[in-house]
Amino acid sequence: MNSTVEVCFVCLGNICRSPLAQGVFEALVKQEGLQDRVIISSAGVGNWHVGSPPDPRMQETARKHGIHLHSRARQFQASDFKRMDLVLAMDHTNLSTLQQMRPAAELHDKLFLFRSFDPENNGDLEVPDPYYGGGKGFETVFQMVERTCPKVLQQLKKKLAKKA
Ligand code: 4NP
Repeated sequence: MNSTVEVCFVCLGNICRSPLAQGVFEALVKQEGLQDRVIISSAGVGNWHVGSPPDPRMQETARKHGIHLHSRARQFQASDFKRMDLVLAMDHTNLSTLQQMRPAAELHDKLFLFRSFDPENNGDLEVPDPYYGGGKGFETVFQMVERTCPKVLQQLKKKLAKKA
C-alpha cells in the first residue's frame, strides 16, 4: 500500500514559526525515509506576507542547526482541511481562527495545538511569536519545534498505519 498522510503547520504570518516547523519536520521525515508517505506544508491564518520567504532571522536560526527553509508564505484556506490529516496551530489565537472555518465535528481528529505534542510543555501550549522580539525568541522556538516534531511524527505514523 502506498497511502500518504498530509500535515500542515499553521501560524499567523507563515514566515517564522510554521516555516520552521515545516523545515524541521521535512528533515526528520527524510531521515526516516518517509518522504514519499508524508506530505508537509505550512500556512498562515493571515495574508500579509503571502509569497514571501521565511523571515531572515528564522532562516538564520534554522541554518545554524543545519535546516534549510524554502517555503513561500500562503494563507490557510477552509478548503485545505478536507485533504489534511493533521493541522497544527502554533498558538491559541491561530487555533481559534482555524476553528471558525469549519464545524467542530469535522475538526476534532485533525486540528490540534502544535505544543500539545511537546513532551516538555508543562501545560504551556503556546509557541511564542518571535516576530517582534529579539534573536533569543527564534532559538526558543527552534528548541520547542525540534523536541516536538518527533512526537508529531509518531502521531502521523499511527494515522498512516490506519490507512494502510
Ligand atoms: P509567524 O510570525 O506567525 O510565526 O510567521 C509573524 C510574522 C509576521 C507578523 C506576525 C507574526 N506580522 O504581524 O506581520
